[in-house]
Amino acid sequence: MIDLRISPKGLEHNIRKAKELGIIIPTIAQMQHPETIPAPIQEKLKQVGLWEVNPLNLFRITWKNEAKESGGLFQKVPNYIELPSVLTGVPCRIIAMVGKWFPTGCHKVGASFGCLAPRLVTGQFDVEQHKAVWPSTGNYCRGGAFNSRLLGAQGVAILPAEMSQERFDWLHSIGAEVIATPGCESNVKEIFDKTNELKQDPQYMIFNQFEEMGNPLWHYNVTGNALADVFEAVKRPGDRFAGAAFTSGSAGTMSTGDRLKELYPHLKLAVGEALQCPTILNNGFGGHRIEGIGDKHIPWIHNVKNTDMAIAIDDEDSQRLLRLFNTPEGQTYLREELKLDETLIEQLTWLGISGIANVLCCIKMAKYYEFTERDMVGTVLTDSAVMYASRIAELNEMHGAYSIHEAHLDHALHMLNLKTDNLMELTYADRKRVHNLKYYTWVEQQGKTAEELNALWYDTEGTWDTVHAQAKELDELICAFNEATGLLKTL
Ligand SMILES: Cc1ncc(COP(=O)(O)O)c(C=O)c1O
Repeated sequence: MIDLRISPKGLEHNIRKAKELGIIIPTIAQMQHPETIPAPIQEKLKQVGLWEVNPLNLFRITWKNEAKESGGLFQKVPNYIELPSVLTGVPCRIIAMVGKWFPTGCHKVGASFGCLAPRLVTGQFDVEQHKAVWPSTGNYCRGGAFNSRLLGAQGVAILPAEMSQERFDWLHSIGAEVIATPGCESNVKEIFDKTNELKQDPQYMIFNQFEEMGNPLWHYNVTGNALADVFEAVKRPGDRFAGAAFTSGSAGTMSTGDRLKELYPHLKLAVGEALQCPTILNNGFGGHRIEGIGDKHIPWIHNVKNTDMAIAIDDEDSQRLLRLFNTPEGQTYLREELKLDETLIEQLTWLGISGIANVLCCIKMAKYYEFTERDMVGTVLTDSAVMYASRIAELNEMHGAYSIHEAHLDHALHMLNLKTDNLMELTYADRKRVHNLKYYTWVEQQGKTAEELNALWYDTEGTWDTVHAQAKELDELICAFNEATGLLKTL
C-alpha cells in the first residue's frame, strides 16, 4: 500500500515551487482519458514538441497521444500496431501498443511519474530538501530525470557504466546528476548497493522501480485500461481477448495483465525474460542483449500469483529481427516477399529490442494455447528502434552487409520457426516457487520482512487490490495540489 500521509512542510515547499514554475500535475484519470484535459492546456500543447522539457508535457504521459513529434493532441484509441499472420506465422491477432509516442520515446516515463507523484503531492518528497534518485539500467532513469526536471526537482540517475553513451549524454543534457555503477544490463545488485549507500544521506530520496507500488498503480490504471480500449475498438463479433504477454524488467508493465484479467477473466497472462538469463524459468542468471529486462531477481512488485506462464526468448532472435525491420534490405523483403504495406513497414521500426521480444512471447504463447483467428493477444512496445541505432550499426559491422536472402532466413528461423520450448505454464506450486525467490533479494538484502512477503501472496485484497484502487485517492491529492497552486484558474 502506498503511503499517502501528508508532510505539511514539504507540501508547502512543493506548492510554492510549482506555482513559481507554472507546473500543473495531471491526474491518473486524465492519463486514461486525455480528452478531459482542460481545453486551454490542449491549446498550448499545439505549440509544444513531444520531447521538449516543458511541464505541459506531463499531460502527454498517456498512450493516446497523436503520433506526432510536435504539436500533437490526443486520440480516442491508443497508438497500436496489428501484426499480420503473414509476419507472425500464427492465426491469432497480435496487437501491440506503442511506447514511441510518449515524451522520452518510452512509456517508462509513466512508471516514474507513478512513483514520484504520490510523494510530491503529499510533501514526503520536498523539492527544497531532496534529490530524486532513479536507479535503473536505462529508460526508467531517463523518465525519472525528465519528470524531475518538469516538476522542478533535482534528479539523480544511477545506471550501469556499460549502457550506451547516448543515454549518458542525454541525461547530462537535461541536468540530471549521473552515477555510473560497474557492469551491464543485468548488474542490478550493483545498482542496489549504490542506492543503499546514497540512502545514508537524507538529501537523497530513492525511487526504486522494482519495489515502488506507484509503478504497478500506473500500469494497472493507465496501460491496462488503454490496452482494453484497443481491444474494444478493434474487436469483431465473437473475438476474445485471450492473452497478454510482457517481458519483465521491474515487472511494472505486468500489472497491465492484472487489470485485463479483471475485465476479461479468461485471459492468460505471460511474463517474458531472456533465455540467456532465465531467472523465472530456471532460477538462472547471465548477461543478455534484450535491453531493459531481466535483472537476475524477481521484482517486489511482480504479482506472480496472477501470472499464468513464463516464456524465455533467445536474445539472438530479437537481434536478428531488429536487423530485419531496420535495414533497407530487410524492408525490401517485407515489401516484396511478404507484401506488407508501407505504413506497416514504417511501424515495424517502432519496435525496440524488448518490443520485439514481447511480440515473440505473444507468438510462443499463441502456439502453446493454439489461439485461433478469433483470439487476440496484446502487448506493448516499450520503446522503439530509434533508441538502438548504434546497436544496429554494430550488428551490421559484426555480420557484414545484410541481404534479402538473409532477411528471408531471419524471418523463417527467428520468427516463423518459434517453438513452444523454453516456456512453462505455471501451476500454483510453480508460481509459489517464483514468488519465494523474492525472499533472497528483498528480505535478505533489501530490508523487507517475511510478513510483507507473505502478504503479497496471501492477502491480494490488502496489497495488490488496495494499491490499484489508490489511484482515486492519489487523484484527489493531485487535484488539491493544483487547487493550492491556483494555476488552473489562470489558464
Ligand atoms: C526497453 C525496455 N523494455 C522493457 C522494460 C521492462 O518494463 P517493466 O520495467 O515495466 O517490466 C524496460 C524497463 O525499463 C525497458 O526499458
